[in-house]
Amino acid sequence: MKRFRRLRQNEIIRDLVKETRLSVKDFIYPIFVIDGENIKAPVKSMPNIYQYSIDKLPEILEEVKRSKITGIMLFGIPKIEDKDELATQAYSENGITQRAVRYIKANYPEILCITDVCLCEYTSHGHCGMVKDAEILNDETLPLLSKMAVSLARAGADMVAPSDMMDGRISAIRKALDSEGFKNTPIMAYSAKFASAYYGPFRDAANSAPCFGDRRSYQMDFSNGKEALREIEADIEEGADIVMVKPALAYLDVLKNAAATFNIPFAVYNVSGEYSMVKAAAMQGWIDEKRIVTENLIAMKRAGAKIIITYHALEMAKWLSE
Ligand code: PBG
Ligand code: ZN
Repeated sequence: MKRFRRLRQNEIIRDLVKETRLSVKDFIYPIFVIDGENIKAPVKSMPNIYQYSIDKLPEILEEVKRSKITGIMLFGIPKIEDKDELATQAYSENGITQRAVRYIKANYPEILCITDVCLCEYTSHGHCGMVKDAEILNDETLPLLSKMAVSLARAGADMVAPSDMMDGRISAIRKALDSEGFKNTPIMAYSAKFASAYYGPFRDAANSAPCFGDRRSYQMDFSNGKEALREIEADIEEGADIVMVKPALAYLDVLKNAAATFNIPFAVYNVSGEYSMVKAAAMQGWIDEKRIVTENLIAMKRAGAKIIITYHALEMAKWLSE
C-alpha cells in the first residue's frame, strides 16, 4: 500500500510539502475611478466594490498600501455626456483615467499603476472599437488604442493592459509606445479574453455595456481552447510582455495549456461575475468565504498564473496576514 496519508498527518508536514502558496505579491487589485467630486458609489452587483472620484481615491489607496498589495488596475469612467463615437476621452490629456494616473503617481508613487486600454467605457455605444453600420471596425480602432496607451503612459502609467481584442493591437500599441519614448512601458495583453456572461457586474461598475448587440465578433468563443493558444502566440510575437487568460475559473484548462506551452509570465483575471457569485453565496451564509476564495485563488495559481487580478485581493491579503 502507498501511504499518502503520511504527509497529511499534521499542519507542519502539510505546509512543508505544499506545492502552491499565495502571496500578497501575486495580486493586482482593480479600482474604478469616476469623473466628478466627492463620490464613493457602491456598485450594486459587486458587494464592497465602489466607484471613487479622484478626491476619494486616498480612502482605497491607503487600504491597498496597508494590505501590502503592490499593484492596481485602473478603470476610468467618464461622464455620460463626455462619451462619443470616437472615444475622445480615452486618449485626451485630461481624460478621467489620465488625471487619475497623474494623481496616483504623484501621491502613491510606490503603487504599480496598470491601466486597462479599451474604448468601451468611453464610446457612446459602449463597444470596444469604432462602429460603422453596426460593424465593430478593427483596423480603424488600432490608432485610437495606440493613442490611448501613449497618453496613459505619458500620464505615468507603469504598464498598459489592452483588453479590446482587436487583431493587431499589440504590435500597434508597442510601435506607438516605442516611438513616443515609452520603450520601457510593459504591455500586459488580455490575450485569451472570452465573450463571457461573467463580465455582467463589471459593466455596472464601469458603465460600459454595449447599447446594441454583444461582443462576440471580437471576444473569443468560449467553446474554443486551441484558438486561445493562437491568440496568445500572436500577442507574444507582437510584443506582449505578459499575457492574460480571462475569465479565470471556467478557463483554467486554457490557462494550464497555455502556461505549459509558452515561456512568458501569465496573468489571470478573476472577473466580476466570479467575485459576485462568491460574495452572494457568502452573504447568505451558504459558503465559507475565506476558504472558498483561498481555494479558488490557489487553483488559478496551480493552473499556471503568476499574477492574479482579483476583487478579492484586499480581503485575501488580510487573511494571508492573519
Ligand atoms: C473592458 C473590460 C471588461 C473587463 C475588463 N476590461 C469588460 C468587457 O469586456 O465587457 C471585465 C472585467 C470584469 O468582469 O471584472 N473591455
Ligand atoms: Zn472594452
